[in-house]
Amino acid sequence: MAKIDDLIAQYGIDTDRMPEHIAIIMDGNGRWAKKRLMPRNLGHKQGQKQLKKTLIDCVQLGVKVLSVYVFSTENWRRPEEEVSFLLKFLKSSIQEEIDELVQEGVRLKFLGDLSEFDTPLLDMIQTAERMTAKNDTIQLNIMLNYGGRREILDAVKAFAHNGGDATKISEDDISQNVYTKQISDPDILIRTGGDIRISNFMLWQCAYSELFFLKTFWPDFGLETLLQVIQEFQSRDRRYGGLSE
Ligand code: IPE
Ligand code: IPE
Ligand code: MG
Repeated sequence: MAKIDDLIAQYGIDTDRMPEHIAIIMDGNGRWAKKRLMPRNLGHKQGQKQLKKTLIDCVQLGVKVLSVYVFSTENWRRPEEEVSFLLKFLKSSIQEEIDELVQEGVRLKFLGDLSEFDTPLLDMIQTAERMTAKNDTIQLNIMLNYGGRREILDAVKAFAHNGGDATKISEDDISQNVYTKQISDPDILIRTGGDIRISNFMLWQCAYSELFFLKTFWPDFGLETLLQVIQEFQSRDRRYGGLSE
């Protein structure tokens, strides 16, 4: 704790104005591995370790929600071996980490179109959500088979399915039917890996998020990079279309 407190002071971060919700497009695992002449899968493994560290950092910083892009609706286009590695690795990670997540007070949510997954994975997801449902230190949203466009479509369908009149649908109705429902929109959206695009991530929720595009590959992200982002976030003027004070 001492180290993090020292760094918070060093970066001049105001602990009363911490972002509540941080969303991350964790990109660059493959290139991280390639640079080291290693197979891409080792990049994904290193990326998972980095996520664990970042989750703990967020807990210590008092962030309440962390949403991470783990697998997009477009990632099925990758070679079959990579897709199957990613899904197997996800299963083993849930199994290995669940007890610690329960202890740490992490509430796990899996958000995305989960209908395409096999029963063992769906069971595991359900169990993990149930085991952590009462936790409230931080909510970790694992965005899985997630696509922002599909999410908006699903929200409209859910609204109509529950008897809503689509000709009268409001922004609030969509907010209440997207996968994130009651959760506040991200204050910060970070994309690592050097590409400056959203890649179909949280299109509805990021309308007014502060965007950060970093050259750092995801496995090299760390506490100091996160603090630099928060420091800059606190210096930005969020006007929401209005004028500054
Ligand atoms: C992000 O890293 C993880 C997933 C999309 C699953 P990438 O695998 O996209 O890594 P790069 O972009 O190829 O380096
Ligand atoms: C976005 O990364 C998806 C995840 C991080 C899970 P991609 O690597 O799939 O994005 P593109 O293809 O470069 O836009
Ligand atoms: Mg990528």
